[in-house]
Amino acid sequence: MQRTPRVSIFTTPHDVARTLARRVAAALRENPRMVLGLPTGRTPLLFYEELVRLHADQDVDFSQATTFNLDEFVGLTAGHAGSYRTFMRRFLFEHVNIDPARTHFLDGAAADLADECERYEDSIAAAGGIDLQILGIGTNGHIGFNEPGPELDARTHKVTLRPETRSSNAALFGGDPASVPTHALSMGMGTILHARTAVLLATGETKAKCVERVVRGPITTTLPASLLQLHPDAELMLDEAAAQELDAPS
Ligand code: PGA
Repeated sequence: MQRTPRVSIFTTPHDVARTLARRVAAALRENPRMVLGLPTGRTPLLFYEELVRLHADQDVDFSQATTFNLDEFVGLTAGHAGSYRTFMRRFLFEHVNIDPARTHFLDGAAADLADECERYEDSIAAAGGIDLQILGIGTNGHIGFNEPGPELDARTHKVTLRPETRSSNAALFGGDPASVPTHALSMGMGTILHARTAVLLATGETKAKCVERVVRGPITTTLPASLLQLHPDAELMLDEAAAQELDAPS
């Protein structure tokens, strides 16, 4: 039986980014109306850079594609410098021919956050579901902002961010973890697992230990990414540094 998630190991983070960007470009040529789920963070930056390059050099066409971002901070308006909407504009959307009306974000400044989460789930369903969900992973094993805990919400919901997650996002807030919002909205693990294909990117040795647990460990809510073992078409794309614990004898 094929183990899931599949593991693909590349020499450098650039190799990971190039390979995934080429795959997305090929998938867009095949299905220009593709629905993509997108992450933020440091890890996908090289991937977005590659997509921008492929758009410039090879006319990869985003005009009919739809995107849904995984998460957003609570309390930030869309134009806030630290919002993930701003992040996506800066690193991808301003540099490709995507239709802004087809890019979807959670609104962390919505008056009723529960309604906002429901609206997001409805929009994903109305778009026909997510074809390819791309994910990063926190060193604590979170995906999206599904933080480790005794239980997880299946669907899009409000989360309390853990201190380590706020610290790792400090760069977006002038380097000060105390300025990072305490709460966020995030797709749930069920939302993520319903994507037709899921690809998790992990690079660098700080991710090696949790990657090893995602691949070899039990499924547990204390390591949300381990739930990818339940997905029939999930893949980890790793550089050698993030894969280093997989070489060790178990
Ligand atoms: P990173 O964040 O890519 O900046 O390491 C990943 C995450 O926390 O999901």
